[in-house]
Amino acid sequence: MKLLYAFLAVFGPLILIKLFYAVGTVMALPRTKGALFVSTSRRKIRAILEALSFSPETKLVDLGCGDGRFLRAVYRRYGVVGEGFEINPWAYFLARFYNWLARCPARVKRRDFMKEDLSRYEVIFCYLFPDLLLDLAPKLKAETKPGTIIISCNFPLPGWTPWMVLEEDDPIYIYRR
Ligand SMILES: C[S@@+](CC[C@H](N)C(=O)[O-])C[C@H]1O[C@@H](n2cnc3c(N)ncnc32)[C@H](O)[C@@H]1O
Repeated sequence: MKLLYAFLAVFGPLILIKLFYAVGTVMALPRTKGALFVSTSRRKIRAILEALSFSPETKLVDLGCGDGRFLRAVYRRYGVVGEGFEINPWAYFLARFYNWLARCPARVKRRDFMKEDLSRYEVIFCYLFPDLLLDLAPKLKAETKPGTIIISCNFPLPGWTPWMVLEEDDPIYIYRR
């Protein structure tokens, strides 16, 4: 019995975290169309923030913000207070928790970005899978204003012509409306 308690004390929190992650991922799957919670590497984020520059007033959003790392990076570097939408409960929890730890004022909402009006943003960042980008591309055409910058990690936006492509091997597509 003692052994069981010891096991639960050591591994219980880990098992709970894994369970939360698995349930959150399965719950979100119908809407994420396969887009799992996988984070953009810090190297890629650095490359984006070196190629583009923003003012603190820039209206920026991360569509499917995961743990919110892009929002924190852009706040640290340019003082931009961005917004993020995330439907996976585990990723949402992490984003809120890390933002709190880092004292980052970025706003993260647990909502489906496909139901949001995207016309207010000047910079839109995403790292989503091709099936979802097929739905998102026409929404962006319909809602964004001229001059809006859209950054898509790894996968191109169908029907859009990139303004810049960073890191050819593992590309980051940048579009300008
Ligand atoms: C590949 S991850 C990228 C995370 C983060 N943007 C990054 O680059 O580190 C994609 C995220 O989008 C979220 N997602 C997918 N579809 C969504 C939707 N319709 N609304 C909100 N979040 C969504 C997923 O839950 C997942 O966490």
